[in-house]
Amino acid sequence: MEKINWPELSFGYLKTDYNVRCYYREGEWGELEISSSETINIHMAATCLHYGQEAFEGLKAFRGKDGKVRVFRMDENAKRLQSSCRGIVMAEFPVAKFEEAVRQVIKLNERFIPPYGSGASLYIRPLLIGLGAQVGVKPAGEYMFLVFVTPVGPYFKTGFKPAPVCIMRGYDRAAPLGTGTYKVGGNYAASLVAGGKAQEKGYVAVLYLDPKEKKYLDECGPANFFAIRGNHYITPASQSILPSITNKSLIQLAGDMGMTVERRPIPVDELSTFEEAAECGTAAVITPISRIDDLDENRSYIYSTDGKPGATCEKLYTRLQAIQNGDEPDPYGWVAVIE
Ligand code: PLP
Ligand code: COI
Repeated sequence: MEKINWPELSFGYLKTDYNVRCYYREGEWGELEISSSETINIHMAATCLHYGQEAFEGLKAFRGKDGKVRVFRMDENAKRLQSSCRGIVMAEFPVAKFEEAVRQVIKLNERFIPPYGSGASLYIRPLLIGLGAQVGVKPAGEYMFLVFVTPVGPYFKTGFKPAPVCIMRGYDRAAPLGTGTYKVGGNYAASLVAGGKAQEKGYVAVLYLDPKEKKYLDECGPANFFAIRGNHYITPASQSILPSITNKSLIQLAGDMGMTVERRPIPVDELSTFEEAAECGTAAVITPISRIDDLDENRSYIYSTDGKPGATCEKLYTRLQAIQNGDEPDPYGWVAVIE
């Protein structure tokens, strides 16, 4: 294997040794299968290709100082994948089988788990797709679950440094009562034009507003949004955002640090009252926001001018990573050691 320069890794695909697959046929899931192929051979009329029957997940494993490998909250990802499956009428993958597949794929690719302290981690990407052939708009009768891994560095090049985002009212990633709460490929396809425009203008992501009224904050590209005001952790409640497992964890940590958590609709105007703002997610971890430019209203909200994260973001980031890496005890039962 070529030597990997762990600290220089970006968030991209790097070939690893194995993936784990499972097929749903005649009303049941089969056994987990190990594959060393990077490709899948599917029917040209498979529903994943035509009607968007595709859902995925994203989670990470970390190598600790003690050499142990820990995976973060995989039961939550398993349950969210089931919710996505219900959302687009696919066969649900059992939670225990999901966890077993994740354990297997990590162990099989152990040599790709970045070392402690490198800033990199092992990204785990499960997906579930409709395989059965249909021409009419109907759910498939057959499905495939697959999980692969790839070692990754920071999602945004800035890493844990404040980065700018923008508001553009001309685009939505999901409809008001659509698929925004599910992790399905279509939402990401719908975000590509706006995301590309934002990047051209120098922003790392689009801060989407609620698609119904464009009055409230929704989420931030591939991450949830949160803000800090005084001792308050404030994050949007919305019918069109993905329930982030990172955000759920930060809500718990903030509460246990004595902060007041507010999860409610956040009017755009309230942006001017926040002291810190950030994106959070598996890939984004916590990415502080330096400024939010509202490109339609010609207005900017500034949270950091010195290139440094705010004190509360820093505290939450440190605590979350300490639990994930196994540097501090995990009182919540969030990490599972892979043995
Ligand atoms: N929102 C969207 C649209 C995402 O793609 C992600 C990434 O998974 C998140 C939020 C963050 O969710 P999590 O913290 O579970 O990774
Ligand atoms: C994640 O944070 O795991 C994501 O899935 C975000 C993105 C890479 C789609």
